[in-house]
Amino acid sequence: MSLKIQMVFGTRPEAIKMAPLARLLRNWPGVELFVCSTGQHREMLRQVLEAFELEVDEDLDLMTQGQTLNGLSQQLLLHLDESYARVRPDMVLVHGDTTTSFIAALAAFHRQIAIGHVEAGLRTGDLRSPWPEEANRSLTGVLADLHFAPTADARDNLLREGRSLASIEVTGNTVIDALLWMRDHQRASQWQPAADSPLAALDPDKRLVLITGHRRENFGKGFEQICQALAELAGRYPQVQFVYPVHLNPQVRGPVHALLDGLSNIHLVAPQDYPNFVWLMDRAHLILTDSGGVQEEAPALGKPVLVLREVTERPAVLEGGTVLLVGTDPVRIVAQTARLLDDAEAYRAMNRVFTPFGDGHASEKIAQRLTRWAQTRTSGSTQ
Ligand code: UD1
Ligand code: UDP
Repeated sequence: MSLKIQMVFGTRPEAIKMAPLARLLRNWPGVELFVCSTGQHREMLRQVLEAFELEVDEDLDLMTQGQTLNGLSQQLLLHLDESYARVRPDMVLVHGDTTTSFIAALAAFHRQIAIGHVEAGLRTGDLRSPWPEEANRSLTGVLADLHFAPTADARDNLLREGRSLASIEVTGNTVIDALLWMRDHQRASQWQPAADSPLAALDPDKRLVLITGHRRENFGKGFEQICQALAELAGRYPQVQFVYPVHLNPQVRGPVHALLDGLSNIHLVAPQDYPNFVWLMDRAHLILTDSGGVQEEAPALGKPVLVLREVTERPAVLEGGTVLLVGTDPVRIVAQTARLLDDAEAYRAMNRVFTPFGDGHASEKIAQRLTRWAQTRTSGSTQ
């Protein structure tokens, strides 16, 4: 049996979540792996590749400043088509819900190459939120031959949409593989931020609130409201350190710096590489975020999360009671953050480890399923 896999990713979260799988597949019997970065992200992707010591075989380097969805999609379709023609994979492996994921799947479909979709089946049921990710993930699911669903509820979404049970494998989420790998490595080496990092200047005796945000549906009013809430919280809690690694999207950097620059206990820092960000999550008292990945990682570290979105495609996180949807209404953000900062009982109730996304072995389950898929394909049976 020989299986040639072309793994395609382009953004920070895809790379973090594909890194453990790529490291495993590089030495997996019967698999020849070709890793292709579309370069949808540039600096933020480079940070991940360095942190996981992950080599890419091809970098399409497609990012442009302030890229539009259609401009990016057009470039992706063109260059991935050429790449598939050169590499000639048996299967293209994509991750999640980005423009890279969907267009990579579409380009593979057009060339009649099999598609494996990692982190498949998450749904809000609302195409406008997250936008355009809900559509990207759903459309990729329509095209995929193998669906790696992180949880049983993701599997059930796929079954409801008519995907066959035989095409779905429930694996857990590879983000936990990445997180535990990094955390254990950091604990073993007593890892600390570098002396010249802005994180080294943080006061270890003060509580830390970590913030991230980048969702397109929050652009404009949503971000203004989030910043308004943060400014109010910073004034009300001068002894709390608010640390915000600001996403490089100009639509995020613009309002965040305009509204929050100069507030002494709000630390606006550059996007952090994965070791520094894991350290920040581990050090945080609580986390405010609209990120998908952070919603999955923080409960595994036992950190309370307030989600700056109206809906989540990760309902499993809500069941543990450690994640709360607060949206972008500033009154609600301030009230819920204040509750967790002031009320020790409320804080304790959310301050516990909850792991609905598996035990850190999702990559192995995916690799085993790929082997079985290759064997049935060689023996001629259908899936
Ligand atoms: C993308 C994904 C989103 C994912 C997010 C993770 C789509 C439609 N969006 O959103 O699903 O949650 O990544 O972060 O696929 N930029 C840089 N350097 C970088 C990265 C981005 O300068 O390393 C700037 C560029 O100006 C770029 C802009 O950010 O044009 C937007 O990047 P893009 O990938 O289109 O969208 P994101 O908002 O990052
Ligand atoms: N992350 C990081 N540095 C940061 C912010 C986030 O390494 O400064 C990591 C985080 O741990 C998670 C992933 O990036 O694994 C989430 O990426 P993002 O929020 O950009 O995208 P999403 O998950 O919402 O698609």
